[in-house]
Amino acid sequence: MTAATAPSIEAFAGRQRPGYSLEQPFYTDPAIFERDMQRIVSHQWLFVDHVARLPTPGSYLVYRIAGESIVLVKGRDGQVRAFFNVCRHRGSLICLEDAGSTRTLTCPYHGWVYDLEGRLIHAKNMPADFDAAAWPLHPCQVRVFEGLVFINLGREDDPATMPFDPLADALGRYLRPNRLDKAKIVARKTYPTHGNWKLAVENFRECYHCAPAHPEYTMVNAYVKAGDDNPGSYQAVTRAWADAWAAKGHVVGNLDSTTTDRRQPYGVFRQPIREGWQTLSQDGRAVAPLMGDLKAFDCGETLVIWGPLFYVYLANDHATLFRFTPVSPTITDVVLIWLVREDAVEGRDYNVDRITWMWDVTTIQDTTIIGDNQTGVNSRRYVPGPYATLEMGTRGFVDWYVSRIA
Ligand SMILES: [Fe+2]
Repeated sequence: MTAATAPSIEAFAGRQRPGYSLEQPFYTDPAIFERDMQRIVSHQWLFVDHVARLPTPGSYLVYRIAGESIVLVKGRDGQVRAFFNVCRHRGSLICLEDAGSTRTLTCPYHGWVYDLEGRLIHAKNMPADFDAAAWPLHPCQVRVFEGLVFINLGREDDPATMPFDPLADALGRYLRPNRLDKAKIVARKTYPTHGNWKLAVENFRECYHCAPAHPEYTMVNAYVKAGDDNPGSYQAVTRAWADAWAAKGHVVGNLDSTTTDRRQPYGVFRQPIREGWQTLSQDGRAVAPLMGDLKAFDCGETLVIWGPLFYVYLANDHATLFRFTPVSPTITDVVLIWLVREDAVEGRDYNVDRITWMWDVTTIQDTTIIGDNQTGVNSRRYVPGPYATLEMGTRGFVDWYVSRIA
């Protein structure tokens, strides 16, 4: 940010010990937060929302991240477009609501009017030689994939950004059986979290804390207790399950991107939930009809990692989307979105509370954990501590972060 603080970021990154949590300023310093937004978040394909939030021409959403405000709008041609929410006149925000429906994008300041394709179509009292065609809204990169809307704040040929298609190809294979593009939103909840975005992500990427902190999650997910006694011991169970279901045509196996593309880390974990558990519910019974193309419950769960800030947790009958949005050095918004197949009927086919039970109770617990972690990290006595063997996912994230930020 300033010349005075920039060298200290390098110094802190340089003295970062492999296998240890980050130095304090990485969790607290506004200048480092600003660099995180510029060097990391601005080069990621960021999940915004499910496309069901943009149902008709004129539907729009506003997403704020990394100091930007982005408008996503469905055009008359059905295409989803994204624009920087910045009037070309003197730079005012145009859309002030988080979501809505509109015929035009009209700046409330001086009344400049843009159509849904971003063209300036009205600006009163301008000089005779004013060329409105030269002043369209600044476009933002946007992709709709499997019903999920992504943006990228960078320019198209940015070498620090992973191209979208290889990312989508690698992860699409695992997402596709659930057909999220044929799904609907049944619940959506925001969990304001009083922790740096990296503390929130570090927490999400390890289950060392699950047994002490998440009794409900631990009861449902057999791998937690199995791994507690002997990390990796659940692998044999997973392998036998994967072999059996691969023979029936189900997608199985894991995916690790750490050796392929360092620009946007991605990956997949797929494993059986627990003996007798069809889905991630309190009693193990299904909470909704099978999603998408699935013809049978394989009773597995799939974690899809889409960069540092977006995760999908698939069960056979529902999906949970996790969106992390850094807000300030010590505040992160975590949004969960739950999906079921679009033709399922509430009351007959599903009950929202049964679907949201596990991740809602778990995420509320995580909000507390992360806030307490931040408070402790703020202490003058905090120093980086060593990761456990069960925290390899978190360690991998921190290694990646340090390599990108230094
Ligand atoms: Fe947790």
